Amino acid sequence: MGKEKGLAVVTGASSGIGATYAARLAARGYSLLLVARRPDRLASLKEELSRAHRVDVETVIADLERPSELSDVEARVASGDVTFLVNNAGAGGLGRSAQVTAEQLERVIKLNVTALTRLSHAALTVFQKRNAGVLVNIGSVMAHSPSAGGAAYSASKAYVLNFTRSLQQEYADKPIQIQLVMPGPIRTEFFSSQGMSDSVFPSEAYLTAEQLVDAALVGLEAGEGVTVPSMPDVQTWNALEAARVEFMKATLSGKVASRYHR
Ligand SMILES: NC(=O)c1ccc[n+]([C@@H]2O[C@H](COP(=O)([O-])OP(=O)(O)OC[C@H]3O[C@@H](n4cnc5c(N)ncnc54)[C@H](OP(=O)(O)O)[C@@H]3O)[C@@H](O)[C@H]2O)c1
Repeated sequence: MGKEKGLAVVTGASSGIGATYAARLAARGYSLLLVARRPDRLASLKEELSRAHRVDVETVIADLERPSELSDVEARVASGDVTFLVNNAGAGGLGRSAQVTAEQLERVIKLNVTALTRLSHAALTVFQKRNAGVLVNIGSVMAHSPSAGGAAYSASKAYVLNFTRSLQQEYADKPIQIQLVMPGPIRTEFFSSQGMSDSVFPSEAYLTAEQLVDAALVGLEAGEGVTVPSMPDVQTWNALEAARVEFMKATLSGKVASRYHR
């Protein structure tokens, strides 16, 4: 079952965006390897998707913040049959930095940065050998928005942005697709499970996980490198990119700006 499309790995598959990716990829005929910490959620998703779509579904209970559990998943991804990886597991709306421990801040980095980096690397090694594969990294519009109360989170998503876009440059001449998906607010357990209000943003700003994932898959099929489903006009992104290019050019002046002269 699912032999033609191969194996899709989805991290954070037990709820929200990850569970929706799992359902959509099963419907497209992928076998699945679903990773998260909650065994009950993964077991019922496995039951539902294997029955509905007649694909093989494997579950791995792993806390990706823990090096040894991350290593096990990494070894599984590196073992060769993965054709599609969705790096979706993420967390981190902790509150103000002075009110949380350094360990809590570091956990955000371990999940959103280290796990995503190691799993991307493992998948790309396999894709390079096969000369094919799809890597989807779930970032956030918060990558562009410093946030008091979400310092490590928005910083981690800025990492996901630059890491993924740099990989796109490295693999530009290969038939390997790398997509950065940047959700705005999505109605999932993301806020409530971390003790945040479900109304961090105005209610009309939220999409459902289904809307987000379906749009992201349209973007993927269209060959987009960066997909921002809630952004009405792609010109908004193009303007940001143009400003970034201008900024880089401006920093190569070789002179100290006059405002810093004594
Ligand atoms: N919701 C939003 O508004 C929004 C906006 C922008 C970006 N995003 C991003 O979208 C992604 C998915 O979030 P979501 O909205 O779908 O939230 P969610 O429903 O809370 O899903 C988060 C998933 O990550 C898993 N996870 C959390 N910590 C983990 C760990 N240590 N090890 C392994 N798995 C872990 C959770 O499963 P277990 O608890 O079972 O481990 C769950 O399956 C995240 O990267 C998030 O940053 C969300």
